[in-house]
Amino acid sequence: MSLTPCEAGQELRRICSMAPVVPVLVIDDAKIARPLAEALVAGGLFALEVTFRTPAALDAIRAMCDVPGSIVGAGTLTSPDDVRRAQQAGARFGVSPGATDALLDACEADGLPFLPGASTASETMRLVERGYDMLKFFPAEASGGVSFLKSIGGPLPGVTFCPTGGISPTNAQDYLVLDNVVCVGGSWLAPRDLVASEKWDDVAELARLASKLNS
Ligand code: 3PG
Repeated sequence: MSLTPCEAGQELRRICSMAPVVPVLVIDDAKIARPLAEALVAGGLFALEVTFRTPAALDAIRAMCDVPGSIVGAGTLTSPDDVRRAQQAGARFGVSPGATDALLDACEADGLPFLPGASTASETMRLVERGYDMLKFFPAEASGGVSFLKSIGGPLPGVTFCPTGGISPTNAQDYLVLDNVVCVGGSWLAPRDLVASEKWDDVAELARLASKLNS
């Protein structure tokens, strides 16, 4: 059943509130998708963003959707065609580093909960005007990080963010204590070396530590 834009926004906020961290996953081989998702869910991270940066992404989404407890989304959506392919693969939410009218139209037409990206006051205001109040702040560290979010919380207090880009275990907490941050995104949960060597217990431990961060 397709969600109305209002329902999609509520669902997106629910997904972002499930844990303090959303793993950003770049998957080269769909074979590792299922055990990777199982490890992350076992560690307490349920919303998983699979980026559309590799040919394996769609198969990875399909495989991860079968993992009990997971809520699998598609990241790096940049076109209406990406939105269509993400939904066909079973993605329950979409993420983009930015936003275009075509992308917003496609997500709204299909009822896909969508986390659009913004990194300036004007980008944020345009998205608010269009009904979005939960945004990805990207690239977080390169765009002013914690200082930007503290500053924009003054004039735009109703907007909340998932900062992503340059977030690590070292600075995640600095973001999570902010009133306008619901969760952070990061690729540190699935380091290429641990994934390549299939060290799923180590990945689960990284996820467990991340799930204990305070939001
Ligand atoms: C993203 O795709 O959202 C970011 O590239 C993730 O950034 P990170 O690798 O710095 O966590």
